[in-house]
Amino acid sequence: MILVTGGTGYTGCLLARRLLAEVEEEVRFLVRPSSDRSRLPPGAAEVFTGDLTRPREVAAAFGGVSRIVHLAHIRYTGTLVECLAGRVDHVVLVSSLRRFSQVRSASVEEVIRGEECALDSRMPCTILRPSMIFGPGNDRNISRLAAHLSRIRCIPIFGSGRHLQQPVFVDDVVGAILASLARGPGGEYALAGPRALPYNEVIDLVGAAVGVQPLKLHIPVRLALAACHLARIFPFELSLDTEQVRRLQEDKCYSIDAATQDLGFTPLGFAAALSRIYRPAATGQDLL
Ligand SMILES: NC(=O)c1ccc[n+]([C@@H]2O[C@H](COP(=O)([O-])OP(=O)(O)OC[C@H]3O[C@@H](n4cnc5c(N)ncnc54)[C@H](OP(=O)(O)O)[C@@H]3O)[C@@H](O)[C@H]2O)c1
Repeated sequence: MILVTGGTGYTGCLLARRLLAEVEEEVRFLVRPSSDRSRLPPGAAEVFTGDLTRPREVAAAFGGVSRIVHLAHIRYTGTLVECLAGRVDHVVLVSSLRRFSQVRSASVEEVIRGEECALDSRMPCTILRPSMIFGPGNDRNISRLAAHLSRIRCIPIFGSGRHLQQPVFVDDVVGAILASLARGPGGEYALAGPRALPYNEVIDLVGAAVGVQPLKLHIPVRLALAACHLARIFPFELSLDTEQVRRLQEDKCYSIDAATQDLGFTPLGFAAALSRIYRPAATGQDLL
C-alpha cells in the first residue's frame, strides 16, 4: 500500500492520476477535512481524512503502508516519524531547493528542520528538492506571470532582472517521484529545469508564449526594500515583503546531474514547456 499526502495539491493531482494508471499497488490518499476531494482522480480507492498537524488524528492512515509519497509540506515530517514508528520501506519526501537560500527566514528554517527530522529518524527515504514548479492550469507561479502579462504588458522587476531562475515542469517532478519509488530509498536530488535563465529571459519567454512583448520596469532593490519597511510602520496594502525582494536577487542555479544519473531525470526546457502549456494546438500535446 502506498500512502500519498498532498494528493489534492497542484503536483499531487497529476501524481495521483499517474500512480493509479501506472503503479500496480493500492494507493491511499490522506486529505484534510477541508480538501477538495473532487481533485482526486475518479477511482481513487481509499481516502483517509485527517490533518497532518494532528498526529493522533492521522495515525491510522499509516496502518499497512509500506511506501509513502509525502507531497504535503516537508514541515510535517515530524508527524510521519511519529506515526510510522519505524515501520515503512520507503518514504519519498518532496522538499524544496529553498533550503539552500541564503536569505534566512522562517520558511527556509522549516524546510531545513523538516529534512533534518527525517534524516535524524533514519527512516528509509529519498529527498527530492524541486525548484519553482510550473505547468498547465493554476501553478501559482508562472501562470500568474502569464495572466498578468496577458492583461498588462508592463511588469515591475526588483533589481536588474539578471538573477537566475531554473523553473521545473510539473510533469518532470511527477516523473522523478515515480522513478524514486521504483528505485527505492536513498539519495537527495535537486529537481530543476535543464538550464538556469535570467529572470528577464523568463519574462520575455512567458510574454512570447501569451503573445505580448513585456515592458519591464526595473525598480531599484533599495527602493523596494524601503517600501516594505514603510508598509510595516504605516500598515498599507503591499503584496510584497523584504524576504521576497531579497530572494529575488539570489541566483537559483542547481546541478541536476545526480537526478539525471539515478532517476533518468531529463526535464523539458522552459520554452518547450511553455509551448506545451500555452500553444498545445501547435505541439499536439494534451494538457492537465
Ligand atoms: N509549488 C512550488 O513551486 C514548489 C517548489 C518547491 C517545493 N514545493 C513543494 O512541493 C510539494 C508540492 O507542491 P505543490 O505546490 O504542488 O503543493 P500545493 O498545491 O500547495 O498542495 C499542498 C497539498 O498538501 C496538502 N496539505 C497541506 N497542509 C496539510 C495538512 N496540514 N494536512 C494534510 N494535508 C495538507 C494540501 O491539502 P489541501 O488540498 O487541503 O490544501 C494539498 O493537497 C510541497 O511539499 C511543496 O512545499 C513546491
